[in-house]
Amino acid sequence: MDQQHILEQARLAVQKKMGDDSSGHDWWHTYRVAETAKTIAAEEHADVFLCELTALLHDMADEKLNDDPEQASRDLYAWMLNTGVELTAVDHVMDIISTMSFKGGNRPPVRTLEGKIVQDADRLDAIGAMGIARVFAYSGWKGRPIHDPRMSPREQLTPEQYRNGNDTAINHFYEKLLKLKDLMNTTTGRNMAAERHKFMELYLDQFYAEWEGQR
Ligand code: ADP
Ligand code: NI
Repeated sequence: MDQQHILEQARLAVQKKMGDDSSGHDWWHTYRVAETAKTIAAEEHADVFLCELTALLHDMADEKLNDDPEQASRDLYAWMLNTGVELTAVDHVMDIISTMSFKGGNRPPVRTLEGKIVQDADRLDAIGAMGIARVFAYSGWKGRPIHDPRMSPREQLTPEQYRNGNDTAINHFYEKLLKLKDLMNTTTGRNMAAERHKFMELYLDQFYAEWEGQR
């Protein structure tokens, strides 16, 4: 199997599918996850090709991009076989993607090192400078405010305290972004998350200072 050919075909397929998505699942999200997965995979001595391929395909069967995610999964499976991916690799990629996109409370843990790496890479794109950009882009897309001190005091509140319609971009930092560093699977991912987490804390300090007109 010609790995470079497969990766190039995967890039083209993803670009075709998600080129114009504005909800944060665009091609450039996929690009960053793939690059980050490669970085982590090299450091963790994992299968770099498998990590890159899975990262490129990780949102292809997601419910956010498909009316029928199960059909999208079957299409993805067939696409990989047709493109020349070995059967064991196809099964591995599908296993990772389906575990990663599992919704609900009893999410099964990702099983393999490669799966842990791609999940780390996906989570890393939700924090740090990139995560900040995506939160505001997503909030704007949803028509939500940047911040409202009545809804989101600086202290961390429980998700129950934020009900539907009570959401701002800044709230989402506390609901999700600031929690992600503790969910990392790999040592490399954890170290990268720690850096990005610090950057977000610095950003929030500056944000609140500017909000109050401090000089
Ligand atoms: P994923 O499937 O990658 O977890 P999501 O659809 O949950 O993605 O989120 C995509 C991007 O939009 C992420 O960067 C996330 O932080 C951001 N996002 C998701 N929900 C909200 C929200 N309620 N407010 C602001 N940003 C959000
Ligand atoms: Ni993603």
